[in-house]
Amino acid sequence: MKLPDPLPGFSLPPATAASVATPRFIDCSARSPERQAPSSAHELAQGLMAPVASVSPKFFYDLLGSRLFEAITALDEYYPTRTEAAIFDAALPCMARAVAQSGLHHPCLIDLGAGNCAKAQKLIPQLQPRQYVPVDISVDFLKDAAAQLQGGFPALDLVGVGMDFSAGLALPEEVQPHDRVFFYPGSSLGNFPPSQALAFLRNIADPLQGKARGLLLGIDLVKDSATLQAAYDDALGVTAAFNKNLLRHVNARLTANFDVTQWRHVAFFNEAQSRIEMHLEAACDLTVRWPGHARCFAAGERIHTEYSYKYTVDGMTGLLRQAGFERVQHWSDPRQWFAVFWAAL
Ligand code: AVJ
Repeated sequence: MKLPDPLPGFSLPPATAASVATPRFIDCSARSPERQAPSSAHELAQGLMAPVASVSPKFFYDLLGSRLFEAITALDEYYPTRTEAAIFDAALPCMARAVAQSGLHHPCLIDLGAGNCAKAQKLIPQLQPRQYVPVDISVDFLKDAAAQLQGGFPALDLVGVGMDFSAGLALPEEVQPHDRVFFYPGSSLGNFPPSQALAFLRNIADPLQGKARGLLLGIDLVKDSATLQAAYDDALGVTAAFNKNLLRHVNARLTANFDVTQWRHVAFFNEAQSRIEMHLEAACDLTVRWPGHARCFAAGERIHTEYSYKYTVDGMTGLLRQAGFERVQHWSDPRQWFAVFWAAL
């Protein structure tokens, strides 16, 4: 039986026997726990005990969560990934020229939230980085992806880094300190409220912190709410599964006893705040327990799980300038649904 061709964007070159090379991989959570934010169990318990319960969206990405997100990117309704890919396909040579014009020739390419590394696969031949550093919180998922990518680029100096960069950008010393270009695609910056997004961008721009020379940033743009809403509440229910899987991950991290069948997926566009909101809503009165704690939820009560802020081109250009980037340019698709920014220091 012939297997179907892989979806576009998912066709990493197979690692052949000749090209198998295990890339360097540094798991920062294992290496220096003291550098990590307060333990994930503590952070989760705090969010769950708050009057309005919340769990950070970074807890979506256990191994199954990363796979469910990959499935989301293949949905008809979820336009961001394929729109961004089309922008890259059309403008990659232009982008590479912009990077070179900023004086960066063989940069150190730092891929924040690299996931399956599919986007870097196209970028690497254009930017020809001296070093490629995929960073992700989902350590096992990234390890596999990095090994596959190394198979396709056997000569590339690849340093995989497992870390929660929402807590800070202190990269291990194996990462080249000069000529760093940060790559933050997929509109993941949209998970932060604008004030935190600004702080994060400032952190990248700060010469003592991120040591960056430039940032290539993918951002989802404001559009009609029906399109936005469908992207986060798809007909197949994959986004619902992605949202509910967070409870399984919390059960594992916290030894809690969430029953996923008691929760509903809620997603809507909050126009006033220009953000998608995702919540999990209790379908009945229930109690969740974990060692030393219990939290009651009334039917209809929600746990907030994600914001996904949508920007205008002007809004994001302003934010990048405010963060300290001096030259900002962007590329967009014909419908102006998504934009990729090059911001240089
Ligand atoms: C990975 C944060 C960019 O906000 O669109 C997809 C995550 N959540 N569907 C997004 C997500 C629900 C995604 N980011």
